[in-house]
Amino acid sequence: LNYRVPRTRKEIYETLIKGLQRLEYRGYDSAGVAIDGNNNEDKERFIKLVKKRGKVKALEEELYKQDDLDSKTDFETHFGIAHTRWATHGVPSAINSHPQRSDKGNEFVVIHNGIITNYKDLRKFLESKGYEFESETDTETIPKLIKYMYDNRESEDTSFSALVERVIQQLEGAFALVFKSIHYPGEAVATRRGSPLLIGVRSKYKLSTEQIPVLYRTCNIENVKNICNSQMKRRDSSTCLHAVGDKAVEFFFASDASAIIEHTNRVIFLEDDDIAAVTDGKLSIHRLKRSASDDPSRAIQTLQMELQQIMKGNFSAFMQKEIFEQPESVVNTMRGRVNFESSTVLLGGLKDHLKEIRRCRRLIIIGCGTSYHAAVATRQVLEELTELPVMVELASDFLDRNTPVFRDDVCFFISQSGETADTLMALRYCKERRALTVGITNTVGSSISRETDCGVHINAGPEIGVASTKAYTSQFVSLVMFGLMMSEDRISLQKRRQEIISGLKSLPEMIKEVLSLDEKIHDLALELYKQRSLLVMGRGYNYATCLEGALKIKEITYMHSEGILAGELKHGPLALIDKQMPVIMVIMKDPCFTKCQNALQQVTARQGRPIILCSKEDTESSKFAYKTIELPHTVDCLQGVLSVIPLQLLSFHLAVLRGYDVDFPRNLAKSVTVE
Ligand code: G6P
Repeated sequence: LNYRVPRTRKEIYETLIKGLQRLEYRGYDSAGVAIDGNNNEDKERFIKLVKKRGKVKALEEELYKQDDLDSKTDFETHFGIAHTRWATHGVPSAINSHPQRSDKGNEFVVIHNGIITNYKDLRKFLESKGYEFESETDTETIPKLIKYMYDNRESEDTSFSALVERVIQQLEGAFALVFKSIHYPGEAVATRRGSPLLIGVRSKYKLSTEQIPVLYRTCNIENVKNICNSQMKRRDSSTCLHAVGDKAVEFFFASDASAIIEHTNRVIFLEDDDIAAVTDGKLSIHRLKRSASDDPSRAIQTLQMELQQIMKGNFSAFMQKEIFEQPESVVNTMRGRVNFESSTVLLGGLKDHLKEIRRCRRLIIIGCGTSYHAAVATRQVLEELTELPVMVELASDFLDRNTPVFRDDVCFFISQSGETADTLMALRYCKERRALTVGITNTVGSSISRETDCGVHINAGPEIGVASTKAYTSQFVSLVMFGLMMSEDRISLQKRRQEIISGLKSLPEMIKEVLSLDEKIHDLALELYKQRSLLVMGRGYNYATCLEGALKIKEITYMHSEGILAGELKHGPLALIDKQMPVIMVIMKDPCFTKCQNALQQVTARQGRPIILCSKEDTESSKFAYKTIELPHTVDCLQGVLSVIPLQLLSFHLAVLRGYDVDFPRNLAKSVTVE
């Protein structure tokens, strides 16, 4: 952040720490901050760097131990950076956490979100120049590289952003970076490529513009081939700067809006290779070179995100709150889109592309984790309603296979965060092959929603628990809505459409009914929480429920859990069944009912004692059940929205009983922005 209003150190720390805490829901393992040190007698600035392994709380305690909090800083502008890390290179430790620095004097410090793939070459080069590395991170090459650029600059007035520009030309991989330096006091430079980065703008005064023009360097940097012979050219910084406001403006750089939303909802989303600099309290954005497709400016946008929306309320964990929000979140997904009177569905973000989608040769739906499961869950109904072949793909595997993609394919990218690196790479892969790309995300302004040709926001509201719950049911409903919109003109499908649309109408009430089983599910958790393993079986429309249920259990309870396709039981998993092995079977009154009964017989014949999730009216399955959880019955293709909820609740109770932090499962992050 950049202050032009005097602040105490406490205020500065608080802003940074609060911001980190708002991001902590993603699950991180260490944190650090760098701010301007207290003025010493010589009025010289230095950079104070504090880093700590563990939660942000640990960092906060450390800071307050070390510093004189109430002293005012004398600086007219003030700029601090902070970071929470999720280890990619190097174990979680204070030394590996960010900010990373150029040298013991902290001349340049950097925070980084992403991954630098050519760091080994850079490190080798820098070591050959005498730089000593202290961490095992890829990031450390960046502050060292900028110091190298600085030390070898040709002219005294080389600007900070010009140095950064030079640095990013040498970087490969994905990054969002913010730089701070004692050589450029009070100045901030930030840049991104492949990782998200936004700038919050706060001012009491009217801003001089709502559009920040993108500026281009006047000098030619193309002829710079590598860092060894780089020539620093002098830049006339006044041509690069554009004032947003003449009076006090505060700028907040963040990788996610939730870190800054309590200060401002006015934000600028940076594009890949933008370099944003704040100098003398003024913001400028520039790029290396102009290309025809470039937008000539970056607009200040207003976000509709309320702070209380991201608070926990009366629940003990965000995940629990989000499970219980589902009656409302699915309504929000459908709001203004499904007309229950006329039985029509209109997804505004897709309507201009509908013709093209109807003409396509196939649909490919791509995602990771829970988002992938939403695709599995709706594949059958989409095949039925669109009468098109539908492929569902895990983003990483899709890329590993170099899957053939054609111009007449339509590719869907499902992602709660809209930032998952694997999904984003798959999107870029499909774009290169000229397929039409459709984003289904929960995050307005996210990379996936911006880079796709068209899309649907699922409007589930911010999801904070690392284990995804309400986003899944909203993704599910969004995909069903898409199928309904595609089939509007198909006479043969009208009866089926009617049935599904009335199913959607009663969904919120039915979700409430399922949530009222919470107590019963808690009792079940009491029986199961000491087990090592838990199998979840089903088929047809409910196979995705098994995969998703097992994923929830793994993610937050650390029990071994497997989602098993009941049709595959006799081809292997049956060997696991005995009296001791806990088994959950999902058996609904749908076209697979009889086949599921066979699976049930196979399990009980091996003395298995299944816990059965079944329809209320089902008297048959309960005869063989060790326990049943009875669910309201809805149309077959929507049943998965209801059947997943008991498993969400079960995983939550199991995790609490096992003593784990539900919202911050070990080793996992909410938004995985590295490949
Ligand atoms: C991470 C999260 C999962 C999530 C997956 C995909 O692994 O821990 O909960 O399902 O990423 O995330 P996305 O934001 O793309 O839906």
